[in-house]
Amino acid sequence: MEVIIKADYKQMSAEAAARIADLVYHQPNAVLGLATGSTPLGLYKELIRLHRDDGLDFSKVITFNLDEYVGLPASHEQSYNYFMKDNLFDHINVNPSNIHVPNGMASDIEAYCLWYEDEIEAYGGIDLQILGIGSDGHIAFNEPASSLGSRTRLKTLTKQTIDDNARFFDDPTEVPHYAITMGVGTIMEAKTCILLASGKGKADTVAKAIEGPVTALITASALQLHPDAVFILDEEAASSLELHDYYQWVYENKPE
Ligand code: PGA
Repeated sequence: MEVIIKADYKQMSAEAAARIADLVYHQPNAVLGLATGSTPLGLYKELIRLHRDDGLDFSKVITFNLDEYVGLPASHEQSYNYFMKDNLFDHINVNPSNIHVPNGMASDIEAYCLWYEDEIEAYGGIDLQILGIGSDGHIAFNEPASSLGSRTRLKTLTKQTIDDNARFFDDPTEVPHYAITMGVGTIMEAKTCILLASGKGKADTVAKAIEGPVTALITASALQLHPDAVFILDEEAASSLELHDYYQWVYENKPE
């Protein structure tokens, strides 16, 4: 596991963007796993800038998003389909037919989830998966007690996640209670996972995920078993880490 601590949100976002850009330059048809939420917004802004100013070419890139609320059509402003168009896809040259965001209006959710898994496999798997972390330790919508071997499926959100996400809705009672989410097992098959976290509010959860036991109660802790997991944190999100100084030391003294 690699733990990278950056001074602030802007530098955290730039580090993640540089890693995606590097992958896309070397592998133009890379399969990217993308996340929603407030954390990756700075990353997406930087990718848009790299596209506009440096010609970073997304025309052959394939994307798969982690999750979507059940019951929200793609046109709903709080749907993750809408979020991705608004904050990234409409501003880069990704081919719309290469974009995959779960369909929260699927009539047969079980069959849809199986199809989503097959589709990821058909593209050869995810090369680089971007993740946030919920205050309850979730990755995607894998809430506490999700199986660490879980696949894409319907998930009931925790009260904490519903409350956390209510800030985005005009009417907090409108937050859906169910989501389609990639499973922890699905995420663990990505070749590289990059988890981003920023702010003091995430510090204790981040410490549990990185330094606590591997437990279904903090599904992000499963990344401890991933062969290529990178946590990119800002100083505030890293502030509860016991080995904070060691991670800095490792980063600054990387062997050639
Ligand atoms: P946030 O959400 O980026 O809005 O904090 C993270 C998550 O719930 O995964």
